[in-house]
Amino acid sequence: MRLFHTFTPLSQITRCAAVLAAVLPLSGCFWFDGPQSTFDPNGPVARHQMDVFYVTCWVALFIFVVVGSVLAYAMVKFRARGEGDLHAEPPEQGHGNPVVEMSLIGASVLALVVIAVPTLREIWYTYEVPVEEKANAYEVTATGYQWWFKFDYPAETAQTLDATAKAVGAPFSTANELVIPAGRPVHINLRTVDVIHSFWIPKLAGKVDMMPNRGNHLWVQADKPGYFWGQCAEFCGESHAVMRFRVIALGPREFNDWVNAQMAPAHRVAAAAAGAGAPKAQFAAYRTFSRNEAGFTEKFDRSPLDSWRAQQLPGKDEDPALIARGRELFSSKTCASCHTIRGDGYIGVVGPELTHVGARSTIAAGLLENNRDELHRWIHAPNEVKPGNTMWVKGYLANNIKLTLEDEDALVNYLESLK
Ligand code: CUA
Repeated sequence: MRLFHTFTPLSQITRCAAVLAAVLPLSGCFWFDGPQSTFDPNGPVARHQMDVFYVTCWVALFIFVVVGSVLAYAMVKFRARGEGDLHAEPPEQGHGNPVVEMSLIGASVLALVVIAVPTLREIWYTYEVPVEEKANAYEVTATGYQWWFKFDYPAETAQTLDATAKAVGAPFSTANELVIPAGRPVHINLRTVDVIHSFWIPKLAGKVDMMPNRGNHLWVQADKPGYFWGQCAEFCGESHAVMRFRVIALGPREFNDWVNAQMAPAHRVAAAAAGAGAPKAQFAAYRTFSRNEAGFTEKFDRSPLDSWRAQQLPGKDEDPALIARGRELFSSKTCASCHTIRGDGYIGVVGPELTHVGARSTIAAGLLENNRDELHRWIHAPNEVKPGNTMWVKGYLANNIKLTLEDEDALVNYLESLK
């Protein structure tokens, strides 16, 4: 104990080191392979950003080791060795050592240059698609809403704005699931209709803010087909923490098929065969959820991309009468004033387009898995899933909308049929 008598900082450093040594191995499991880990880059932009992070990290570690060693040396060498030392006069004070001081200034400047040069290079690189890749770049527009993301595909609109395309209802937009071609740079325009949001796909690129009255952008590229988690990274109100999205990267042919499927109007389930009987009243089988029960997200029974693909397939056990009832309710319960469903004549623009909502892997801004139970949970009490959301406040409450279990069941079946 004598050793630490005059210098308590040393014992604090020891304690800090012990805590770090205990925590680091544990945190390793979360940091390196989580769905939102920036340590697992899946594209050139994220990789370059991680490289810059490591430059700073190594420089800082080097400085820490050098300064820490000198400090430790001084503390041991000049420690109090006996009672006499504790009460001794301080040694004669000098004005400093010009050589040491100048070298320290030089070393600091050098450290800053070592960090600044690659950082500036990467800021330029990540700002815009490299010139030689520009011709190959795909363009999308992401718009932030409280609290969900809308994705537009201007390239598809331009290419297909002929009579046929208009007849089938192009252009299209998607909500909370951005589908991009893998292996190609994607230029993303960033917009917002309300407050500041921040667009972040940890495995593909760092955050860029969506600012009111300002056109920001970023670019990303996925090395290969994959399924990636995204998140709003700027506090934007009550449900900021549950403002999520997904990015699905597909090979060229699969991407083309997906675009064509999105262009098409809403899927119609064939009318019921004569004598098919009454609706099956599936609502009795819905799970009930407790308030704020953790939703989904990471529990897929197969790879997330395969789950997404399975979601594109036509539905099974569909009940045409029930679906037709849901289509009517969508209008009579005023859902259609906010949502577009191309082909069914609904053209609301306040909320997400739902023409192909059944083919998405998630609902409620990436919060819940897209299945009948969760969809039922969402339309039954949207405020319990995403507090303060527009559908609840300006839809259900403002219009005093009441849904019976039977109504909810019809709506769930209708929405799930929209592949
Ligand atoms: Cu949008 Cu936080």
